[in-house]
Amino acid sequence: MVMTPSMPPFTPPSQRPAWRSLTALAGSVPHLRELLKDPQRHQFQASAAGLTLDYTHQAVDTRILQQLCVLAEDSQLMPQAQAMFRGEPINLTEQRPALHVALRGSHLPQAPWGDDISQQVRVELTRFTAFADQVRAGGQRGFSHTPITDIVNLGIGGSDLGPRLAVDALAPWAALQTRNQVRVHFVSNLDAWNLHATLSSLNPSTTAFIVQSKSFTTPETLMLAASARHWLLAGGCPADQLSRHLIAVTARADLAQAAGYAADHTFHLWDWVGGRYSLWSAIGLPLAISLGGKAFEALLHGARAMDEHFLSAPTAHNLPVLMALLGLWNINFMGSPTHLVAPYAMSLARLPPYLQQLEMESNGKRTHIDGSTVDCQTAPVVWGGLGIEGQHAYFQLLHQGRHRVPVDFIGVRHDPTPTAWAPEQHRVVVDNLVAQRLALAQGRDSTRTHQLLRAQGMDESTVTRMVPHRTYPGNTPSSLLWLDEMTPHHLGALIALYEHKVFCQAALWGICAFDQWGVELGKTLLNSAKLPHSG
Ligand code: F6P
Repeated sequence: MVMTPSMPPFTPPSQRPAWRSLTALAGSVPHLRELLKDPQRHQFQASAAGLTLDYTHQAVDTRILQQLCVLAEDSQLMPQAQAMFRGEPINLTEQRPALHVALRGSHLPQAPWGDDISQQVRVELTRFTAFADQVRAGGQRGFSHTPITDIVNLGIGGSDLGPRLAVDALAPWAALQTRNQVRVHFVSNLDAWNLHATLSSLNPSTTAFIVQSKSFTTPETLMLAASARHWLLAGGCPADQLSRHLIAVTARADLAQAAGYAADHTFHLWDWVGGRYSLWSAIGLPLAISLGGKAFEALLHGARAMDEHFLSAPTAHNLPVLMALLGLWNINFMGSPTHLVAPYAMSLARLPPYLQQLEMESNGKRTHIDGSTVDCQTAPVVWGGLGIEGQHAYFQLLHQGRHRVPVDFIGVRHDPTPTAWAPEQHRVVVDNLVAQRLALAQGRDSTRTHQLLRAQGMDESTVTRMVPHRTYPGNTPSSLLWLDEMTPHHLGALIALYEHKVFCQAALWGICAFDQWGVELGKTLLNSAKLPHSG
């Protein structure tokens, strides 16, 4: 295994002195209701790029935070981050760089091919954003020479989750800030009804398909693309006009060309962009069509602002590092193998499934970078959903179950909905977020519950019977991420924040975040099936 020049000699994380200190500290952490009494608790916040991380409700105190920061320093997080930004082959098993940061212009100039990468990125960004603006202006016409009005994205995993999250999250912004006439749809699932239901309301003469596949070998996507061709032909599209309705985004332009995609309808990404890190590339074309090219670049600027914060902020004020360390504390020292992501903003409904791929495909690993087997937990099981609905469902388990489930609450301070009732609704959403976070931390003990039930007029024998069922242990930790508003800039910063958090946790655990041999297995299993020869 070739280690990159900037990677320190490998030390298993559990061998680090700070790891041992943290193990000792984990045995005597006060209950959150005690920690929250600290008048200085408000200091446990940090802000960057329009986001604020409030970790006052995490089960840490200054001693623990200090040791976590020592662990970060001892693990040489920043030298490893700089190696990533310099384009070193930190994707060790595939011997590739992981240079998604270059897509937003953040890579460090020392990269030997620095200028070439910047040039390649700029050319492709210009190409696909110009194409997006042309589609938006009605400039892309189908076989009947009428403008394309509907775009269907065919892709799966990183070729679907990132663009779909972003298009959904920014749909309100797009509706209020742009004049977009082109509708964007997503089909990722091979279940035939998915494509049928999407296409049944569309017109073949005004519909185009973006076939998103970095490898251009993913069976599900190629099969969906073949079905789309059938639908176009059945809808009256002459075979020699198909290319008007088919767009490819891939790192394998040779395969796209062989499958009949026109060169001016083929957009490129590179093997140094991981699928789950590819939103910033031409994989973001559906978003560029939904928002416009200029707004897409605002997304890149937001991510770049987070990159600059990540590379420059001191450990104790560094949002990605803090989130990584708090996650590690909960997983490795406080016995919490799962992690709940609970946005209190409808626009972020698709953030949990996006983060499931980002976090669990990156860090769902059991082998250290030196080939040895890990002796600690790595990625948590990430799950989640809209908090305002979860509190009427699975929050029961959080309040009275046996699992200790750390929560990322995510709130958006400003709601742009242009209706008279929006401000009041938004206030209630935010009040629910704050109330749930506090209740999960403080709980309600038997003494307080007894008093409450008696005050409600319940007789003593009933109260005695009911108290065990009506107490809440509390002590469930959470972070609260505030976005000032949901704009391309803020979404870019949020996604980059989680990308760097995942990177930091991989560096702390000593695992590779950028390969995915486990999911590659799925593809080989499927290859034995009979598949169409082209997409
Ligand atoms: O099978 C896993 C995976 O390779 C993901 O890493 C990737 O995002 C997805 O499949 C789609 O791959 P492609 O973009 O090559 O079609």
